[in-house]
Parts: sequence; structure tokens; C-alpha cells
Amino acid sequence: MPYFSFHHSEPTRKKTAQAEFFTTLVHKMKILVATEKPFAKVAVDGIREVVEGAGYTLALLEKYTDKQQLLDAVADADALIIRSDIVDAAVLDAAKQLKIVVRAGAGYDNIDLEAATAHQVVAMNTPGQNSNAVAELALGMMVYAVRNLYNGTSGTELKGKKLGIHAFGNVGRNVARIAQGFGMEVYAYDAYCPDEAMTAAHVTPLHSAEELYKTCDIVSLHIPATAETKNSINHDLVGLMPKGGVLVNTARKEVIDEEGLIALMQERTDLKYMTDIMPVADAKFRTLFEGRYFATPKKMGAQTAEANINAGIAAAKQIVDFIQNGNTRFQVNK
Ligand code: 3PG
Repeated sequence: MPYFSFHHSEPTRKKTAQAEFFTTLVHKMKILVATEKPFAKVAVDGIREVVEGAGYTLALLEKYTDKQQLLDAVADADALIIRSDIVDAAVLDAAKQLKIVVRAGAGYDNIDLEAATAHQVVAMNTPGQNSNAVAELALGMMVYAVRNLYNGTSGTELKGKKLGIHAFGNVGRNVARIAQGFGMEVYAYDAYCPDEAMTAAHVTPLHSAEELYKTCDIVSLHIPATAETKNSINHDLVGLMPKGGVLVNTARKEVIDEEGLIALMQERTDLKYMTDIMPVADAKFRTLFEGRYFATPKKMGAQTAEANINAGIAAAKQIVDFIQNGNTRFQVNK
């Protein structure tokens, strides 16, 4: 049974029952893809195929520079696919027809879940769909760091180094798999993941963040941005890392206590910070830590054709399945 039924108000002008029925039938669901950082074209083609195949209309808003553009585009959308785009109360207020928003990706800290619930909008993510891409970038950043940002001097190798994976979710597991290929010793800490899941992946479980940072030459962050994790990667924690430690962040900038990390990196000139999410204090990091700091100009972790295809098409399929069958499997605002 389809999830929706349409309720039409009494027509003001004369309209036959048949015509009204026809109007209902031809109402085409509008699925809006609103991506400030667009998907690869091949992924958009795949999304279009799913959406149009279901008989819906696809609308695209890419590279928008002004929130008003999003507010306008969302006004008559029934469903919305986003990436890191902010969906707050203002967007939800403007989206009068919206039934579902799917974050094509893992982290949904960009959606105001309470507001979505208040607006009776289902919010979903597409867990795991872009995690290999993010993991590959994390390993790339590790190589870049230990080879001294490719400055021509002798660096070190990843082989034999201890890698600490902070949170063992979909990305963390892919990082472990690839790091093992490099010959790294892999450790992980995740308060919500049982030891058995780590040992099954040949990863040594540790039981506190402190132990992870104390043990590992390189720590790779894969924690979500939540009230609990915000600013949790701080001076004292990172300060536990051994000499020459490298912190790699492909998670979220909000988890870093930037001023604490800056103070630490001033004290500890051996430490490096590589991030895929430009800090608020990027200019300061850049000036103070030349050769020890790198930030991508725009978040690149999930920016591969494969990840765009996987996450984008999964989002489109989840929308169709929700509209047609009421499937809420990936709902995050239950
Ligand atoms: C995610 O949470 O899925 C990643 O951070 C990717 O984000 P992006 O789609 O904005 O690149």
C-alpha cells in the first residue's frame, strides 16, 4: 500500500470528479537533489534513472551559493537528497510538501532532527555507501604526513607503525583493512563496538581513548559530531601521542578543540595534523605549522565517482521505497 494519499480541498471552480481524479494521478512527486558540493555527473545520471523509473520528477540544485536558493527550490519538493547541506528549521518551514530528506552519506549532523520530526519529515542517511572512499583518503593523508608533505626530505613508512582507529564504524573498518595491507599494526577504540567485532577484523581493541592515543603513532578519527564528542579531541588527549605522532581527521571539524590543538602543536613541534575538514582556525594552523599541517580546501573524503554513485543511488532508492512501501529502515529521527 502506498505511503501517501492525496487530500484535495473542495475545488473552487467547477470540476468533474473524473478530472480531479486525473489530477491526482498525474501529480508527480518531485525529488530535489540539493548539493552545494555536487555529485559526479555519472551519479546524478544514476539517481535520475531511479527517480524517473519510479515515475517521479528529478530537480537539481547544485553549487548554490545562497541559502535562499535552497529555500526556493525546496518549496514544492516531496523528497530531498542532500550531502553536507544544512537542513534546519528554516529549510523545513519552506519545504511545505516535504515528506523525506535523505543525507547521501554517513554523518547527519547537518540535519536538525528535532525540527524534521516536528515537521513530520522522515530523515535518513545511507550508512556505509561512501566509507571506502573516506578510508582511502585517510590512508592517503597518512602517507602524505609521514613523507613530510612530499617536500623532498626523507620521511618514514607506514609499515610497522601503530595505527589507532578512533571509532570502529564503517569508515574505521575500511581504514583497518587498507592499513593492514600497508603492514601497519592496527588498534581501535570505540565505546559502542564490542571487542569481538574488532578482533574478527584482526584489530586490537583498546578500552579508552587515552590508551589509544598513548599507544599509537598515527590516530585516525572516525567519530561523529555529537554533543558528547564536540571538542573532545583536545590538548591533553592528543598530547598523549608518542613522538612524531600524526592526527588524521576525516570525520568532522567540530570534534577538535582547535585552540587546544594549536597550543599543543606549539609545545610539541614533532606532531602533525592532517585534516579533510578545514578548521575554523585554518589560517592560524597554516601560519604556525608549515610542513606539519594540511587541510583539503573542500571536504574530499567522499568525493569519488564510486562513493557518489553508491550514496546517491542508495538515497534515491530509499526515497522510492519509502514512498511506495513505507520502508523506514534507515530513518535516523525515529
Ligand atoms: C559523510 O558524512 O558521509 C561524509 O562526511 C561525506 O560528506 P560529503 O557528502 O559532504 O562529502
